[in-house]
Amino acid sequence: MKLSIIGTGYVGLVTGACLAEVGHEVVCVDNDAAKIKLLTSGGIPIYEPGLEELVKKNAAAGRLSFTTSTAEGVQKSDVIFIAVPTPPQPDGSVDSSFIEKVARDIAAALTDYKIIVDKSTVPVKTGEKVAETIKRYCPATADFEVVSNPEFRREGFAVGDLLKPDRIVIGTRSPRPIEAMKKVYAPFHAPMVVTDINSAELIKHASNSFLALKISYINAIATICEITGANVQEVAAGMGLDERIGRRFLNAGIGFGGSCFPKDLSAFIKIAEEIGYDFRLLKEVQHINAGQMDRFVKKITDTLWVLKDKKIGVLGLAFKQNTDDIRMSPAIELCQRLQKEGALLRVHDPKAMNKARAILKDVTYVEDMNTVTEGCDALVVATEWDEFKQLDLERARKSLSHPIMFDGRNLFDHAEMERLGWVYKSVGR
Ligand SMILES: NC(=O)c1ccc[n+]([C@@H]2O[C@H](COP(=O)([O-])OP(=O)(O)OC[C@H]3O[C@@H](n4cnc5c(N)ncnc54)[C@H](O)[C@@H]3O)[C@@H](O)[C@H]2O)c1
Repeated sequence: MKLSIIGTGYVGLVTGACLAEVGHEVVCVDNDAAKIKLLTSGGIPIYEPGLEELVKKNAAAGRLSFTTSTAEGVQKSDVIFIAVPTPPQPDGSVDSSFIEKVARDIAAALTDYKIIVDKSTVPVKTGEKVAETIKRYCPATADFEVVSNPEFRREGFAVGDLLKPDRIVIGTRSPRPIEAMKKVYAPFHAPMVVTDINSAELIKHASNSFLALKISYINAIATICEITGANVQEVAAGMGLDERIGRRFLNAGIGFGGSCFPKDLSAFIKIAEEIGYDFRLLKEVQHINAGQMDRFVKKITDTLWVLKDKKIGVLGLAFKQNTDDIRMSPAIELCQRLQKEGALLRVHDPKAMNKARAILKDVTYVEDMNTVTEGCDALVVATEWDEFKQLDLERARKSLSHPIMFDGRNLFDHAEMERLGWVYKSVGR
């Protein structure tokens, strides 16, 4: 099928590449001319495992192309996906201006029947507004239908998640777009939930808020474990074997971040508020999340006392492992909190250092994780990259003035670290 994606970011580029990989002809559109230039010349603007190969392979096969022209994308496709940002406004509500702008751009380019699919995370009833807007701005000859198709893939695992999705949600009751969407996704062999557009939009906010809630729940349990001397990892293991609960998203730490959970949570709280429901449960999820960072910083200051002029090595800047995405990253927030106290930081991240340089200033960026601790007073682990488990602990221990590690992601075994001579402080253990 002929498809276009408006917005070639973390969602749009991976979606475009995966749809091309299963045989569709995909045009990726972005109004960032530098990004499109990079992509057309064979570069990749983001890090996502497996993405570069997929983009190169499908571009070379002629199934994946890039342009800055929305009109070109619309004209060359039957189904147009929208994957532009929906950032938070200062009051937590969603800034829908990117979606509205794209709706007008699509309307201006419409000549015959097209299916317009919203993949961005949007407040319930946005699909109706997109349809109204396109109707208002399109020529009388044009015809279209709007579908909601929220995206559930995880950054860092996006290619695998997209090629093997656990479900595909299609929000429309109209037979023609249902049939088209089933054709788009047939090669993925995934269960499909076909529902009305409002329910599809709600499924996304309800899912992300639930996952954030699960993280805050285990973080609250971690606090109780710290007070009682229990071990949150063992509690999580015991809970997680119950099939009704499951082990995933039960990892205690310094809290969730990233471009989705914090913004989707505030958006959902705001959406509820606007329709007269006080979603206090989700406000508490936010409250617990903020408390995790406060408690971790306090753990560091309780141990090191005055941070002014203390040298601290930090492993991790990305908001999670396997990505270079630092948007709303707890690791960056932690670095900034430590800097505010006067600490001098040496930082390392396998993929996120280039992006971090733009916002995290006055730190020393270290290419080799094994040298991050040189001349430092303590080591902090802020992101759960698997490779950090391979840290040369003996070398790190010897290079620190005193072997203190604050592990905000519980990467190491507590008893083993103590046996190796570390003062080891983690979360909920
Ligand atoms: N990042 C994720 O893992 C993820 C997962 C699920 C859902 N989402 C949702 O998907 C949406 C996109 O997120 P993202 O992370 O891909 O954002 P992003 O910022 O990485 O990418 C968005 C792209 O849209 C482009 N853009 C903005 N306005 C445009 C316009 N008028 N015309 C053409 N291009 C335009 C930007 O230049 C950018 O490249 C958001 O609503 C987000 O909440 C993101």
